[in-house]
Amino acid sequence: PRCFALVPAAGIGERSGAGIPKQYVEIAGRPMLAHTLAALTAVPRIEQVLVVLSPADDRFEQALPGHAGWVARVGGASRAESVLGGLAELRRRGALDEDWVLVHDAARCLLRPEWVDALIAACLPDAVGGLLAQPIADTLKAGDADGRVSATIDRRDKWAAQTPQMFRLGLVERALQAMGAAATDEASAVEALGLAPQLVRASMANFKVTWPEDFALAERLLAG
Ligand code: CTP
Ligand code: MG
Repeated sequence: PRCFALVPAAGIGERSGAGIPKQYVEIAGRPMLAHTLAALTAVPRIEQVLVVLSPADDRFEQALPGHAGWVARVGGASRAESVLGGLAELRRRGALDEDWVLVHDAARCLLRPEWVDALIAACLPDAVGGLLAQPIADTLKAGDADGRVSATIDRRDKWAAQTPQMFRLGLVERALQAMGAAATDEASAVEALGLAPQLVRASMANFKVTWPEDFALAERLLAG
């Protein structure tokens, strides 16, 4: 089977406060999305990278001039819908049920090819698939509406889920269709089918640029 990457990049980046979709904010001289795509295209095992844009996107061509990879304007109202649109597009372009798809957030622009290599090596022989993740180091607190601690949560078996998340096309499509727009990642949809995806350790640096202050942190990491 082949490996494809699918990059949902159809969000508006509301929490980032950037005023434009955050995937187009320049970090270390290039739009965030360009950094993300460079990491994925540097992985030889990945056949093609499909970028999923919003149908209303009017920035891609200017932000990534001469981009030679696959692009589809099939984004939806939620991340899950954008991914489902991208999976259907991969099928139209010849991908099969048994091919692997690595879904990776455009907003995780610090991705490194070696982490992707590790995920692929772990998942290719696996019956289910898996995801990059990081064991939680901090003590976890639940907070109430007043910003006060309501509980302490045992962190010992807790991981922060990242992307890429790697599953076979047929499985991840069935899982996301069953869960609907609510799924915030592919693994949770696969779990809902009773399967246990593999956790593959990556790095805290594989964080998702989400809040205004995250751009400066990403800039420091990418520039260094
Ligand atoms: N995404 C998408 N389609 C959507 C929503 C999100 O393709 N309808 C993508 C984003 O572009 C991003 C990834 O999914 O690369 C992770 O989502 P998130 O970090 O939440 O990005 P946004 O939804 O754009 O940000 P926010 O939630 O702050 O608006
Ligand atoms: Mg979002």
